[in-house]
Amino acid sequence: MSASEAEFEVRVLAARWEAAGVISLELARANGGQLPPWNPGAHVEVVLPSGRIRHYSLCGSREESDSYTIAVLREAAGRGGSAEVHDTALVGKSLVIRGPRNNFPLRPASAYVLVAGGIGITPMLSMARELTTRGADWRMHYGGRSLESMAYLRDLDKLACAADAPVEVRPQDEAGVLPLDEIVSAAPVGAAIYGCGPALMLDALRAAVARLRPELEVHFELFSAATPDASGDCAPDHHERPFTVVLAHTGKAVEVAEGKTILEAVRDVVPEVPYSCEEGFCGTCCTKVIGGTPVHRDTVLSEEEQAAGDTMMICVGSCSSAELVLDL
Ligand code: FES
Repeated sequence: MSASEAEFEVRVLAARWEAAGVISLELARANGGQLPPWNPGAHVEVVLPSGRIRHYSLCGSREESDSYTIAVLREAAGRGGSAEVHDTALVGKSLVIRGPRNNFPLRPASAYVLVAGGIGITPMLSMARELTTRGADWRMHYGGRSLESMAYLRDLDKLACAADAPVEVRPQDEAGVLPLDEIVSAAPVGAAIYGCGPALMLDALRAAVARLRPELEVHFELFSAATPDASGDCAPDHHERPFTVVLAHTGKAVEVAEGKTILEAVRDVVPEVPYSCEEGFCGTCCTKVIGGTPVHRDTVLSEEEQAAGDTMMICVGSCSSAELVLDL
């Protein structure tokens, strides 16, 4: 956690079923008053009653400055955070949240193509609301396992009508997966493509843009850098080979054993090293690389920043050289 992080105690005002396996929580400040403003794409860090820390996109209305809404998909193969949200009677209880943070902001473009997979609809919903308010040209393609599992269909319907925006809803059991090549090929000139969902979908989306429309901007958010199910509730990616990290401030050499992250190894000797999500998407552990070749597994740095190799997210990254020298 960053020392300067804004932290709030909130009370869970309501819990609602949004779709099969998806519950939303409405959170308001425990002592009353307003919560900080946020922009589409923002998420908050939530400390669950067990102490588990999870990250969820804000998906309510930005007009409601006294409450935030988050939606949580139950992940059978998760690490327990989503099950805790689903199985605990949280209404009326207090939680601590930190943020909001935004690694996935809307950038200026002449048109927007929003591609959502599963629970990846949550940031897309707030983007669609914002783009409708702005009168922007947007379209959305939303894929899910089945109609029953797809949250916020009614909200999307209303937005599509209000904005006269094309919204494709594609349940996989009836219509197959999203036709990403077609979606990318049909994107308007100058469009920015935003994707949020499982890793496999985002990899395919990025590959389709590179192959078919390399001139288009593509932005994406993955709720876990580690696994393809976008749960926000997954284990960090561990590397398979030991290596050495040298901490430039002290010259200390730290062995990063097989199965450990750099962050875990560094924390043993520098306990104050900042971190939060431990999944490569919040940016808190971003560290300057002074020597060696980092291998990136985060979703914070752009392709150019990753290629430059002078910063890295040490919670998920590793290295391809025998040694890595970090500005720590
Ligand atoms: S702790 Fe979040 S990116 Fe590393």
